[in-house]
Amino acid sequence: MQNYLAQHRDRFLSELLELLRIPSVSADSKFKGDVRRAAEFVRDSLQNAGADMVELHETAGHPIVYGEKLIDPAKPTVLVYGHYDVQPADPYELWTSPPFEPVIKDDVIYARGSADDKGQFYMHIKAFEAMMATNSLPCNVKFMIEGEEEVGSDHLGTFVAENREKLKADVILISDTSMIANDIPSIDTGLRGLAYLQVEVTGPNRDLHSGVYGGAVANPVNALAKMIASLHDEQGRITIPGFYDAVLEVSPEERALLESAPFDEDAYKTDLGVTELAGESGYTARERASIRPTLDCNGIWGGYIGEGAKTVLPSKASAKISMRLVPNQRSEDIYELFTNHFLSLAPPGVQVKVTPLHGGEPYLTPLDAPAYKAAELAMEESFGKKPVPTRGGGSIPIVALFEKELGLKTVLMGFGLDSDNLHSPNEHYGLFNFYKGIETIPLFFKHFTALQS
Ligand code: BES
Ligand code: MN
Ligand code: MN
Repeated sequence: MQNYLAQHRDRFLSELLELLRIPSVSADSKFKGDVRRAAEFVRDSLQNAGADMVELHETAGHPIVYGEKLIDPAKPTVLVYGHYDVQPADPYELWTSPPFEPVIKDDVIYARGSADDKGQFYMHIKAFEAMMATNSLPCNVKFMIEGEEEVGSDHLGTFVAENREKLKADVILISDTSMIANDIPSIDTGLRGLAYLQVEVTGPNRDLHSGVYGGAVANPVNALAKMIASLHDEQGRITIPGFYDAVLEVSPEERALLESAPFDEDAYKTDLGVTELAGESGYTARERASIRPTLDCNGIWGGYIGEGAKTVLPSKASAKISMRLVPNQRSEDIYELFTNHFLSLAPPGVQVKVTPLHGGEPYLTPLDAPAYKAAELAMEESFGKKPVPTRGGGSIPIVALFEKELGLKTVLMGFGLDSDNLHSPNEHYGLFNFYKGIETIPLFFKHFTALQS
């Protein structure tokens, strides 16, 4: 195995770079053809790595790639999930090299999708290739790599519900999260859910002269700003009535365990260029960004935003708002609580509309699951250090759905770093992380198969 990995290192990397050159941006229809090309690339690489059956499943959106290698029905089955779609790369001018022309600088690959998630799921295809080539695949493996994760996995739910038999497995394995540092391996044991919506505040039927009418007519931008500002109190808590009702509080023991993982607050601040951190009182920065629910305005617009000044009282103002949810909050309930509250905040003279965009449920992996143990043993063997459990702040909404539809737990064995600039300019992924992942994955298969039999 080690020999095979060493011999094929350079090819593994050049293949990944080829995949990174395909701008598979799922959100933008301009890239539809490229998204398909990426799917075909993934299909072909699974085929070449030794899968028996590989298919492109068409959906009303982007295709889902499915592949499998079944060696023995008596052996366990690992279902690998990943996504070949990427976030839009804008603003392009903030990239130091073009997002779809990968370059390697100081042993780090710079490209959109390098960490999220092409560089990470491709490790699984290469680990699979290596196990096949060295006759060491110890159990069955299935791959489901989708092209709509970054836009809410709209068609994956149906695919999963319609293919329960085909997707039968013992565990789901995903590399689409981060670890603490290259010398501090960790495994996310939870993900936050998401409720994402758009709000629109409308005042007068057209933009008005702010001198002629200003002062006499409600201004939608002023109103929206005030409404959004009121969603947090002085303690940084969310003011929507009932918002925290379902929150499963984390026990003091578990909080202590999570806090025992290293965290350098000064380095965190320096990296982000902020002088102070902010958030809900009574919780540490790490807790605020993982075990606590949040509400953030993601974008806000309305009125004149061009060069110079235009004295106008705008007719409309809008914002996009996301709420990250924790176990046992449900996105449906949160939409309803938000909508009722937000409508009630409207001052006289404006109308408010709330439109849900997408959402998903939070998720927890139990630490005593055999699959978690297998991931722990695998990382311990490859890093020489036992990984620490962490809770991820991001969302992979489909993971809760896998549990509901397939009855399967997921192990989040991610190899990225939070500082990889996911969704930002200059996204990158370390060569160390890419190769370490390829080395660790076969160890997961080995330990999981041993623990299951
Ligand atoms: N891979 C990320 C999620 C992630 C990143 C989890 C780092 C934990 C640590 C995923 O691709 C993602 O970006 N998810 C979106 C949700 C989706 C519905 C757009 C998110 O979290 O915003
Ligand atoms: Mn991802
Ligand atoms: Mn993402």
